[in-house]
Amino acid sequence: MTDLTTKISTLSVEEKRSLLKQLIQKKTSAVEIFTNDNDNDDIPLAYYDFSHSPQYRNLEQMISGIKTKGGVVDPYFKVREGINSNTIVIDGREVINFSSYNYLGFANDPDVSLAAKAAIDRYGTSVSASRLLSGEITIHRELEQEIASLIGAEDAIVFTAGHATNESTIGHLFDKNDLILHDELIHNSILQGCLLSGSTRISFPHNDWQTVDQILTEQRRRYKRVLIVIEGVYSMDGDIPDLPKFIEIKKRHKSFLMVDEAHSMGVIGDRGRGIGEYHSVNPADIDLWMGTISKSFASCGGYIAGCQAVVKYLKYTAPAFVYSAGMSPGNTAAALASIRKLKAEPERVQSLHERAKLFLELASDRRLNTGMSKHSAVIPVIVGNSVRCIQLSQALFDRGINVLPQIYPAVEDKAARLRFFINFNHTPEQIHFTVNTVAKELDQI
Ligand SMILES: Cc1ncc(COP(=O)(O)O)c(C=O)c1O
Repeated sequence: MTDLTTKISTLSVEEKRSLLKQLIQKKTSAVEIFTNDNDNDDIPLAYYDFSHSPQYRNLEQMISGIKTKGGVVDPYFKVREGINSNTIVIDGREVINFSSYNYLGFANDPDVSLAAKAAIDRYGTSVSASRLLSGEITIHRELEQEIASLIGAEDAIVFTAGHATNESTIGHLFDKNDLILHDELIHNSILQGCLLSGSTRISFPHNDWQTVDQILTEQRRRYKRVLIVIEGVYSMDGDIPDLPKFIEIKKRHKSFLMVDEAHSMGVIGDRGRGIGEYHSVNPADIDLWMGTISKSFASCGGYIAGCQAVVKYLKYTAPAFVYSAGMSPGNTAAALASIRKLKAEPERVQSLHERAKLFLELASDRRLNTGMSKHSAVIPVIVGNSVRCIQLSQALFDRGINVLPQIYPAVEDKAARLRFFINFNHTPEQIHFTVNTVAKELDQI
């Protein structure tokens, strides 16, 4: 109250008049006015309350649209028990599973688990600091050396997430004077990196190296540096770009080339060493080899492999590396053990190739539309309508198969699809049963 008296006494005659007017109009007390009234009364609720924001409202509408139009339960955030491999347990029921990145079965491999547990016993569950400070442990370097040797690059750096690897590397290395050309189907993490960089960004038609060549012939000299970004295996379509052509173009136009190997490393090439092995190219021709270790390598994180200069520069300056705690001991050891196992047992890759080939052949026999997928472990079945796609996913789940829908806005509505990730542990019987069931259910929807 004393506060209030002091405040009123400091008001000018004008302000006192206005206060009196408000007391009469609002039929309220001076205390109320002083505590609640401020100049921000006209700021809409949506600007300072998340539950009223248009973005949140749109999301709620989209989710309820999926449920009501599809007549099904929300297909996302299904809670599983146990391991995410060729089978999965959801709601206490074991079903065949095609929604796991566990391509080589290392996420449920006893040797990999043992290595992770031993690392936790030795180093604890967290490195508890940025690697630059006191977070560095021996196995971080061992992992980076294994990655570099797998690819044939000079060196490598690991980050704690694949998404952050792309975002931070591109965002940090390039700036407003530069041009970034990327495939139209490129992953979100690359797009975020482009936005962060402030570079001019041009998306080129899928796999269309001719257009890249043409753009650079016309525009190269307007920019300082140019980065071309492609994927080793496209994550929605499972196809592989013509890497030698992109190398030719990047050399001709004195540009950088980056390849995201999230879905190609461990999967394509005779020994699973990715698109470099698949196309037998010189690894030094790619400036930034990016990959995730959350997929074939049974862990969590991402890497950049390349020349010593770029790796050293990123290690001392990339925000997601410098200002972030290092990869945890368990995750590091799991990735390291997986890579060593891949090198020791390349026959796993052959089995994976056979499984994927079988799926694709059977799907073609049943006239399912698998789009551009070839020689990879990502096989879409294009349904061409988001609602039908959700319904099919639900019908398959009821029949004992877990596969997730990819719908608008992740892909165009007419390209809505079920995306099958094949892994080393799938049996031929599981694949036969799945393709037959998909064909039957698709007919009925
Ligand atoms: C092509 C591609 N790049 C990057 C990422 C991000 O990797 P992570 O899930 O390890 O963060 C993904 C994730 O699925 C991806 O598909």
